[in-house]
Amino acid sequence: MSVETLRSEGEEQTIQIGEQFATRLKRGDLVVLQGDLGAGKTEFVKGICRFLAVDDLVTSPTFSIINQYSGQMPEGDPVKIYHVDLYRIESPDQLVDVGFDDMVFAHDAIKLVEWPEHAGAHLPEAYWSVGLEGAEDDDVRTITIQRYGGEAGDDVSP
Ligand SMILES: Nc1ncnc2c1ncn2[C@@H]1O[C@H](COP(=O)(O)OP(=O)(O)OP(=O)(O)O)[C@@H](O)[C@H]1O
Ligand SMILES: [Mg+2]
Repeated sequence: MSVETLRSEGEEQTIQIGEQFATRLKRGDLVVLQGDLGAGKTEFVKGICRFLAVDDLVTSPTFSIINQYSGQMPEGDPVKIYHVDLYRIESPDQLVDVGFDDMVFAHDAIKLVEWPEHAGAHLPEAYWSVGLEGAEDDDVRTITIQRYGGEAGDDVSP
C-alpha cells in the first residue's frame, strides 16, 4: 500500500491539505486520524469540512464525542458528516452507548474519527488513514495519507 507524505508548516496549511485530500472522498468513506494531542487532527478535519461546504463552525468533539454536520458533495448533493473524537472513551463497550457502531458503518455519511485506537474492533476494514506528526515546539507537521482495504466509496459493511 503506497503512503503519501506531505509537509505542513502551519495550521492553515494543514487545513488546505485536508481540503485537497477531501476531493478524493466518496459518500460512505471513513477517515481515521492519528497523532498525539495537538498534532492537528481537528485542523485537518476543518479542511475536509471546508471542501464539503459545511457552514457550521467545526470544533473539537472532545466532550460531545460525536459532532454532526451537514455538507455538500462536489456535485451538490447533501451529505452528513460525523466528526468523532474517541479520546475520552475508556473501553470499547462505551462506544455502544454513544451509537458509534451505527454511525461508523453508515453508508450515506462521511465519517471522520480521531483517536481510532480507542475503538477496539469496532472499525470497518476499508478506510483512509491520516497520520500527523511533529515536535511540540514547532509548527511543522509530517502528514501521511494511506488507503486501506478497497477503493474509496466501496461498501464498508462488515
Ligand atoms: N502545521 C500545523 N498543523 C496543524 N496544527 C498546527 C500546526 N502548527 C501548529 N498547529 C497548532 O496545533 C494545534 C492543533 O490542534 P488540533 O485541535 O487540530 O489537534 P488534535 O490533533 O485534534 O488534538 P486532540 O487529540 O486534542 O483532538 C492548534 O493549536 C494549531 O494552531
Ligand atoms: Mg482533535
